[in-house]
Amino acid sequence: MSPQFPAVRPRRLRSTPAFRRLVAETRLHPADLVLPMFIREGITESVPIDSMPGVSHHSLDGFKQALNEAAEAGIGGVMLFGVPLDEKKDAVGSGATDPEGILNVATRIAQAEVGDALVVQTDLCLDEFTDHGHCGVLDVSGYVDNDATLERYRDMGVVQAESGSQLVAPSGMMDGQIAAIRDALDTNGFGNTPILAYAAKFASAFYGPFREAVQSSLTGDRRTYQMDNGNRREGGREVGLDIEEGADIVMVKPAMSYLDVLADTAATSPVPVWAYQISGEYSMMQAAAANGWIDLDAAAYESVLGIKRAGADAILTYFAVDLAQRLNGTS
Ligand code: PBG
Repeated sequence: MSPQFPAVRPRRLRSTPAFRRLVAETRLHPADLVLPMFIREGITESVPIDSMPGVSHHSLDGFKQALNEAAEAGIGGVMLFGVPLDEKKDAVGSGATDPEGILNVATRIAQAEVGDALVVQTDLCLDEFTDHGHCGVLDVSGYVDNDATLERYRDMGVVQAESGSQLVAPSGMMDGQIAAIRDALDTNGFGNTPILAYAAKFASAFYGPFREAVQSSLTGDRRTYQMDNGNRREGGREVGLDIEEGADIVMVKPAMSYLDVLADTAATSPVPVWAYQISGEYSMMQAAAANGWIDLDAAAYESVLGIKRAGADAILTYFAVDLAQRLNGTS
């Protein structure tokens, strides 16, 4: 083979759009995408979230419209987060287990409105509901008390299932949370409600815009429960524990800075593997695009495709509906 004239030419298969389409190894489909949504108590119309261009706090009315738009786009599901009034927050996050708490009210609405078309999913965590902003309850020294938190999560799981959640998603990184919630669901008649485990969730700088979105009361960080940024092997350990405890789906979060953990998980997990492209990942692309530095549509597509290529079966992303509409050719 002459060194000047390569016989092996990968470019042959890139010569036309039709060839490229035919040899594509990874494809996105609207059904792969899950839209996280924020429902805020006490507002009468939707309010844009400053830190997340294109994302809003929904009022209960605006929420219905957004749900129908999501269903119309054919995405796989929605993940609901509640934003209660500040004065409703307390040390144990009572609003989380109150059937009239904003997240549970929103869940009933979503289930009634689009429950047949979309998988209605709920964040199972206390941080939106606690006045200190932590994902669990605190002991006298201010440390997040693992086992006392599990009691709250058990109750929260049952109330969410009663409200119509089709998939509960514990995101608090307490030890034993999957087993505890599984047991609570099973002993309360919800043996068929699956659990999406935020299994390998890292203490990330990229949660910033979300914390503004949920009007988080947190000071400090979550490093005593969320994972250390450098720990790949431990990611596998956390995923393995959640599967043993009965997780139906495992998730890696954030996505883009943890694609190695995602790929490891995809290679070994017997259950579906999802990833969450989080608020900071979304907002930094929005910010760059607003400055004219990147093409937003292309960057959104490439980033989500990359997460799928790394091994995610489904992706939670704030781009879900926009991407689905483009995939459908309806925008
Ligand atoms: C905790 C939770 C968080 C996110 C989802 N669930 C925030 C955190 O751990 O601080 C982050 C989502 C995002 O940044 O888009 N309830």
